[in-house]
Amino acid sequence: MHKIALLGTGLIGRFYTMSLLGYRGTDQIVMACASRPEEAQKFAEEFHIPRWTTDMAAAVRDAEVDTVIIALPNYLHKRAALLAAEAGKAVLCTKPLATNAGDALEMLQAVEKAGVFHGYLEDLVYTPKTLKALQSTQKGALGKVLWARSRETHAGPHSDWFWTKELSGGGAIVDMGCHCIEIARSFIGKENRPLEVTCWADTQVHPIDAEDHAVGLVRYDNGAIGQFEVSWTFRGGMDLRDEISGTEGTIWLNHWLRTGFEMFTGVGQSGYVAEKAEGDTGWQFPVGDEVGALGYVEMFLDMFNAMDEGRKPMETFYDGYLINAVMDACYKAAQSKKWEPVEIADWRGSGSKTAAELSLKEYDADNYLIKEELMPNGNQKFILKHKTSGAITQVIREK
Ligand SMILES: NC(=O)c1ccc[n+]([C@@H]2O[C@H](COP(=O)([O-])OP(=O)(O)OC[C@H]3O[C@@H](n4cnc5c(N)ncnc54)[C@H](O)[C@@H]3O)[C@@H](O)[C@H]2O)c1
Repeated sequence: MHKIALLGTGLIGRFYTMSLLGYRGTDQIVMACASRPEEAQKFAEEFHIPRWTTDMAAAVRDAEVDTVIIALPNYLHKRAALLAAEAGKAVLCTKPLATNAGDALEMLQAVEKAGVFHGYLEDLVYTPKTLKALQSTQKGALGKVLWARSRETHAGPHSDWFWTKELSGGGAIVDMGCHCIEIARSFIGKENRPLEVTCWADTQVHPIDAEDHAVGLVRYDNGAIGQFEVSWTFRGGMDLRDEISGTEGTIWLNHWLRTGFEMFTGVGQSGYVAEKAEGDTGWQFPVGDEVGALGYVEMFLDMFNAMDEGRKPMETFYDGYLINAVMDACYKAAQSKKWEPVEIADWRGSGSKTAAELSLKEYDADNYLIKEELMPNGNQKFILKHKTSGAITQVIREK
């Protein structure tokens, strides 16, 4: 059984608590910490958490606590993680790990030096759909993954600090690009090094210093491309979608707006429908099990089982650090309008030096097959490349 201090009782603290209380049934949040006493107390009462405080250091150092969960605004992650490392406590940190790669590296080094368990709470690689899709991909169902595209867009976050660049580290990229980058990286394969990025980012709608919309490409050393699309300007709810394309197959995932539960109401239900839903009348897209659909349940199962089994979880501070390094390169690329290298101080992946191999399928002794298609008139067409001359021709097998 683990005794947990939960730092932060806002939106994510609530989702985490709902998942933690429901999953293994063995662990307990013994301390809730928030910035205002009335918030901490109310949250503790609601979830039957025995003690609460507004003092982060006291929560971390509390003798009963063995695990610290960081659910605080981005600029506080580093301070909280360093406190946990110093106190010798296991530490699980929400996304993004830090506001920049320098701080993320410091956090990684601190937990490793202290020898404490560390997990990066990237829930969106743990959704049941994603876990199953990753399994199929790893078993080769898609062949070699060439392109992994991930989107998170909504009309903007729910607290002031997200909109303040000095506190958040940036806009939509640091808030949601971190999810999309890690989703794409997980499908492409973590052994592959992210080499360089290009990125468009702009402030299209909101009166803020950071970007509220961005699209980026991350090129990996095996030739694969990760693509992220993130926005705080999107209207219509929260769009969470992934598309994976490989040499042998494709996966499309829709996590939020089209989950199979669609409802029309002319009168509404006066209340919460789903995270980032805009209004409660008209067509609605409720989500049956929000904490499950967003991956929190499986994520904490992996984290605490890993802790008990003495193994690493699927997502560690190292993953969080790499994502911060990719995002730093995105901010550079958005400024320079060029491809920018991803600077990784400590690359640990095995890596793949080979660019995407062209797929060479034999058609006959002289030709490779490029493409085969059954046409509307019933003819079969074969597009061929001659093995020595390189000439491209077609053969039509009539119906
Ligand atoms: N899917 C996800 O993984 C996901 C979703 C939402 C938010 N997040 C992340 O979770 C973190 C928190 O986001 P949120 O949406 O819960 O924010 P929020 O504004 O809803 O809540 C922030 C919480 O931190 C507390 N806090 C702030 N300063 C504090 C201090 N000095 N000491 C103690 N407590 C303090 C507040 O009282 C509040 O409880 C962010 O890093 C965000 O990126 C992750």
